[in-house]
Amino acid sequence: MKTIKLNNGVEMPMLGYGVFLVSPEECERCVLDAISVGYRLIDTAQAYYNEEGVGAAISKCGVPRNELFLTTKVWISNAGEANAARSIDESLHKLKTDYVDLLLIHQPFGDYYGTYRALEKAYKEGKARAIGLSNFYDARFVDLVENMEVKPAVLQLETHVFSQQRKMRELIKDYGTQLMAWGPLAQGTDGIFTNETLKAIGDKYGKTNAQVALKFLLNEGIVAIPKSIHKERMASNLAIDDFKLSEEDMETIRKMDTGKLKVDFNDPAMAKYLINYDKNFNPNK
Ligand SMILES: NC(=O)c1ccc[n+]([C@@H]2O[C@H](COP(=O)([O-])OP(=O)(O)OC[C@H]3O[C@@H](n4cnc5c(N)ncnc54)[C@H](OP(=O)(O)O)[C@@H]3O)[C@@H](O)[C@H]2O)c1
Repeated sequence: MKTIKLNNGVEMPMLGYGVFLVSPEECERCVLDAISVGYRLIDTAQAYYNEEGVGAAISKCGVPRNELFLTTKVWISNAGEANAARSIDESLHKLKTDYVDLLLIHQPFGDYYGTYRALEKAYKEGKARAIGLSNFYDARFVDLVENMEVKPAVLQLETHVFSQQRKMRELIKDYGTQLMAWGPLAQGTDGIFTNETLKAIGDKYGKTNAQVALKFLLNEGIVAIPKSIHKERMASNLAIDDFKLSEEDMETIRKMDTGKLKVDFNDPAMAKYLINYDKNFNPNK
């Protein structure tokens, strides 16, 4: 398993397993399957409402905790220093662990300065081995980072062959921040699994479109966390160490970048949706 060293020296696997939209009922089975086929990085979030399933799986899987790399994210409704600190303890309890390997602010809404202070405190107390951000762009990213003590180790953004995040990749270099791709398979949209360009490349190596798309991201130095509820797809998405993309293949895929995101977090309607997200999705609120 390829790893990358973060800006604080922590080693992180470059390919992991994400559990967005994996139901609480199915999550334990999915994470156990993922670990059994070889994943060691698991990406969850408070807002996925499946941290308990991840916790159950990691405590049963038989792989020592220090060989796993666990990520969670603080949701908007837990923004602010005191709220976020309480929610981090709650996440650790649900995840049945004393620490996460990576703790992110999920969205740049609410009192995210307070949230980041809680992340810094959790980092200093050993509750998180690394901290970072998700869905922060441009000036919002720079403003927070310039004003905080611990530089984010990771920035998690929508990134895939159709949206390669060139501008943000340049910007975060200054802080040694590592890009982590969410939606690395474009969430299954835009015909990614039947795309002719990816297929022509994959056919040369006996690889699927998904494998080519993931290999491209890793070659670009981007961490990827594909999700699937199917064990055979989990295994296939992970089986990308046994082939190489040529520089010509890489250039061909670079040209697939549209520069457009599927999810526009600057859209006011999206902001309203996210701010009210857990009122709609969390049965406890
Ligand atoms: N920070 C954020 O705001 C944010 C936002 C979104 C996601 N994420 C994280 O990133 C992870 C990945 O993103 P994502 O889940 O949105 O999308 P994704 O991994 O790009 O795509 C998942 C979709 O692709 C399908 N799929 C996966 N492998 C396949 C294969 N080999 N062949 C055919 N279909 C395949 C899955 O279906 P099946 O499950 O039916 O196989 C699912 O519909 C999430 O799980 C989450 O951990 C973070």
